[in-house]
Amino acid sequence: MTLPDEVYIMKKAFFTGVPVGWWVVFLAKYPVTAVIIGAGHRSLIYADYALTHPERLKIVGVAEPDEQRRNAVAQKFGIPAEHCFATAAALAAVPRFADAAINGTMDKQHVVTSLPILEKGYDLLLEKPFAVNEEEVGQLLDAVRLYGNKVMVCHVLRYSPLYAEAKRRVVSGELGDIINIQLAENISYHHMSTSYVRGKWANSDVCRTPMLLAKCCHDVDLMTWLMEPDVPVSVSSFGSKFQFRPENAPKEAGTRCLVDCPLVDSCRYSVKKLYLENPDQWECYVWHNLEGLEAPTDEDRLNELKFSPYGRCIYKCDNNVVDHQSVLVNFASGATGTHNMTGGSAESLRTLRIVGTKGELYGEFERNTLTVRHIDPRPGSFFDVEEVDLNAAAEGHGGGDEALIADFVRYVAGEPTSISCTSIFDSVAGHRVIFCAERSRLASGEPEPIPTDER
Ligand SMILES: NC(=O)c1ccc[n+]([C@@H]2O[C@H](COP(=O)([O-])OP(=O)(O)OC[C@H]3O[C@@H](n4cnc5c(N)ncnc54)[C@H](O)[C@@H]3O)[C@@H](O)[C@H]2O)c1
Repeated sequence: MTLPDEVYIMKKAFFTGVPVGWWVVFLAKYPVTAVIIGAGHRSLIYADYALTHPERLKIVGVAEPDEQRRNAVAQKFGIPAEHCFATAAALAAVPRFADAAINGTMDKQHVVTSLPILEKGYDLLLEKPFAVNEEEVGQLLDAVRLYGNKVMVCHVLRYSPLYAEAKRRVVSGELGDIINIQLAENISYHHMSTSYVRGKWANSDVCRTPMLLAKCCHDVDLMTWLMEPDVPVSVSSFGSKFQFRPENAPKEAGTRCLVDCPLVDSCRYSVKKLYLENPDQWECYVWHNLEGLEAPTDEDRLNELKFSPYGRCIYKCDNNVVDHQSVLVNFASGATGTHNMTGGSAESLRTLRIVGTKGELYGEFERNTLTVRHIDPRPGSFFDVEEVDLNAAAEGHGGGDEALIADFVRYVAGEPTSISCTSIFDSVAGHRVIFCAERSRLASGEPEPIPTDER
């Protein structure tokens, strides 16, 4: 019997072996069911797909220590009390009741919260970085090999129109053999100060992720993905904390913008301008403590900034991560790649340039532009120019967030996935480059060999 695609899928078919010839076909009914591990901002972006596409995804459980968040999610998705848990371990202690888990805990919790879930047999959508060191990478890969789960990493940029189109162009062969790939990320002064100087990823002793891993694991993943089947073999890196240091503070600066600083109306990092006058920017981080309030007032916000980490003088925080870093990668073919991350720019901008033996492309992520040039061998011609219409969405990493969760649902259901689908094994290369780049940076740029991937 053939069932319509949207209703049933043939999920697993295998021979039992005893007696030989018996085979069992399991039919899984859409929607795919999923539990949320860590009901924070990222998880909910993916989980909301269940509200817009209820026929494809249904959220049926949650593990979240914060009672307010747990209750809010239970209410939003209609999750019964017996499927609400305080931790991932507690959820994993009961029999499996969903196809998959969406793990949006913080970086250092990704592996520890995923291991019991994998053992229980859940497929997994895991936020990046999927591990904070090589030991954790090993633990995760061992578990996936042992239990056979489908695990996809939230490399949402693979799904954004610019990078997905770049991948299609490389795979088509129209650029020839790739000689060099250049990625760059300028992180705006607003974003830099909020996340990497005052915020959650400012101190690697606390968050366990150096800046390159926290911010640029997308970019380095894109580099290794776009260069496939070429593989990175060594890396060198330099970077430092250039700007956000106590010795760079103006001498009259206080310790908190709204408490004791005479420069509150002139400093470009004044929290009065960044947060009070622009309360919607990075609100999920800055106003985290006001989450329970229905409509925070200006006074609530003012009081919050007097005490929260986001109210500190930008030069007097406990940040220890770099604010700029350059990475140079050598590939097995002899091709080269660079990634330049600069925090504190006026405008946020990611760029991509790929140069091949037959042509090249250049794109700007935030501006949704992609230009492709091919060498024209005809007499009198030099090259042709194609401006590609990317048609990207304005929100959610250019539409990458929604495209990723849609692909994950297909992956779990056993349907064909897109060119951007990233299994855990595909995602390892980029993380390994980063661990080695960080070692190189700490050794003043000494080249580091990159271990090869094994499945
Ligand atoms: N893919 C992207 O582009 C992208 C963008 C931003 C952030 N991220 C990543 O997403 C992740 C989540 O970031 P966020 O800002 O949503 O974090 P968050 O702090 O809002 O959410 C994390 C949640 O996990 C919960 N939690 C803690 N311990 C837990 C446990 N043992 N079991 C279950 N839940 C637990 C916390 O209470 C919290 O609610 C981070 O790793 C971050 O690096 C990815």
